[in-house]
Amino acid sequence: MKDSSKINVLYVASEAAPLIKVGGLGDVAGSLPKALRKLLPSQINGSSIDVRLAIPFHSKINQKLDNLQLIASYFVNHPTGQIQARAFHTTVDDVPVYLIEGSSILTDPNVYTNNTLADARKYIFFSLAAIELTKQINWNIDILHANDWHTALSVYEMKLRRTQDPFFLNTKSVLSMHNLPYMGSGADSAVQEFGFSECDCINLPDWGRHIPLPIGMSAADQLLTVSPSYAKEILTPEYGCGLQDFLESRSDTVSGILNGIDEQTWDPSTDATIHFNFNQNKFENRIKNKIALQTEFGLDRNENTPLIILISRMDQQKGIDIAINGLRLVMDLSLQVIFLGTGDPFIETSCRSLEAEFPEKVRAALRFDLNLSRRMYAGGDILLIPSRYEPCGLTQMIAMRYGCVPLARATGGLKDTVVDIPENESNNGFLFTEASAESFAQVMKRAIKTFHLKDEWKKLQINGMNTDFSWEKSAIEYAKIYTKLKGE
Ligand code: GLC
Repeated sequence: MKDSSKINVLYVASEAAPLIKVGGLGDVAGSLPKALRKLLPSQINGSSIDVRLAIPFHSKINQKLDNLQLIASYFVNHPTGQIQARAFHTTVDDVPVYLIEGSSILTDPNVYTNNTLADARKYIFFSLAAIELTKQINWNIDILHANDWHTALSVYEMKLRRTQDPFFLNTKSVLSMHNLPYMGSGADSAVQEFGFSECDCINLPDWGRHIPLPIGMSAADQLLTVSPSYAKEILTPEYGCGLQDFLESRSDTVSGILNGIDEQTWDPSTDATIHFNFNQNKFENRIKNKIALQTEFGLDRNENTPLIILISRMDQQKGIDIAINGLRLVMDLSLQVIFLGTGDPFIETSCRSLEAEFPEKVRAALRFDLNLSRRMYAGGDILLIPSRYEPCGLTQMIAMRYGCVPLARATGGLKDTVVDIPENESNNGFLFTEASAESFAQVMKRAIKTFHLKDEWKKLQINGMNTDFSWEKSAIEYAKIYTKLKGE
C-alpha cells in the first residue's frame, strides 16, 4: 500500500554542490534537498519528504566516489534509435543522488559551454533519462521538481507521459526559474531532434514554442522563482523577457520562495579558510581579518578606511559597470576597493582601468578563487551587489553572516533580504533604486558616513549576522507546495 503521508520528489538539476558547482543553482541543488530531508513530520503536517537528487554524471565529478553503485542500465527513446543510459547511486549528506551517464554527457567535460545546441542535446537526454530512471527502479514519484532551462523539458515530457503511462498518472511537476533570461534559445533543433512537436500553448509567444524553458513553463503545475519579489517582477515587461503575458495568464501558479544558505558551510566561527575565526563576541578578530586582507593586497593597513568588496561573476546582469562608474563619483573619499571574479572581458577591463586610475585604492583580482572570497567576506566592510536584476542572490546573505554589510540594488531577492530602513530594528544594509551611477553614489556616500559612526555600524553588522537565512524556513514552504500538489 502506498504511504500517503510520504511525498516522493525527484529533484533534477544540471549541477549540485559539492559534487559539481558552477553557479548559484549548484548551491541551491546542493542544499535544498538536504534541508527538505531534515524537516520533521511535526513541521509539515505529519508528512515526510523522500527527495532524491538527479544530476548528469559530468566527467568532472569524482568518478571514484565512495559507495558509487551502478543501479540501472537502460535506453532513452530517440526518433533515430534508442540512446543508452546508465544510472549510478550515491549518497551525499544523507541525500540519495542519481548520477546519470550517456554518450552526450561523457563526451563533454564542461557543465555548460557557449554552444547551447550541444548543451541542449546533453540536457534533453538527461531530462528524459531522469524520468525514465524512476520507472526503471520502480520508484513512484509524486513530484518532479526541475530547475532552469536545462531540465525544463523533463516537465514537458512528464505532462505528455502522464496521459499515456499509468505509472506517471499522479505525478505533478514544479519548475524553478533561477534566471529567466536564460531560456535555452538556440536549442530549437535539439528539441525537434528528440521528437518534440511545437508546443501548442496559445499563451506562449511563437518564439517560445520551440525552446526548453517556455515549453517547460507551459507544462508545469507550479512555477517558482527563488524570491517573492522576483516572482512579481517577472510579470512586468521590464523583467518578464517577453513572457510576462504568458506568466500573467498563469499568475495563480507562479510564486517565489527565498533561497537559503547553508549555515554550516558559511560560518565565520568555524571557517577554516579565514585567518581569524570570529563571532559577535569576538569582533576584534574581524578587524584582524581586515588588516590581513589589506596586507594581502598591498593596500594601506588602516581599520578606519572602509574596505569595499565586490565578489561576482562579471556579467551584464550584475551591474558592475554601474558600481565602477558610481565609485568614480566618490573616489575623493577615503576608501579601498577589491574586485574578485571573472567573466565578460569588457567588464574585467573596466575593473582593471579603475585599478590603474586609482592604484592606491583599487585592486582587481580577476579570477575564480573561493578561498579568497571567504577571506574577503571575513575582512571586507561593504559588499557591493549592484545587479540590474537578481532572482535571489546568495552573496548578500553570505556577507551578512560574516558581518560584511551589503550595499545592493533594490531588485528581486536583494530587496527581500537587505533591509535599508534606519529606524527599523532589523536594518542590515543599504539599497539604491535606480540602475545608475548617481543613485549608487548617493547611497555609497550614506554608507561611508554610517561606517564612521561606530555604534551604528556595529548594529548593522550584528543585525545582518542575526538574520535567519537558514534553509529550514524555505524548505517548509517547498514542502507546503509539494503537499498541495500531491493533494490535487
Ligand atoms: C541564479 C540567479 C541568482 C540566484 C541563483 C540561485 O544564479 O542569478 O540570483 O541566487 O540562481 O537560485
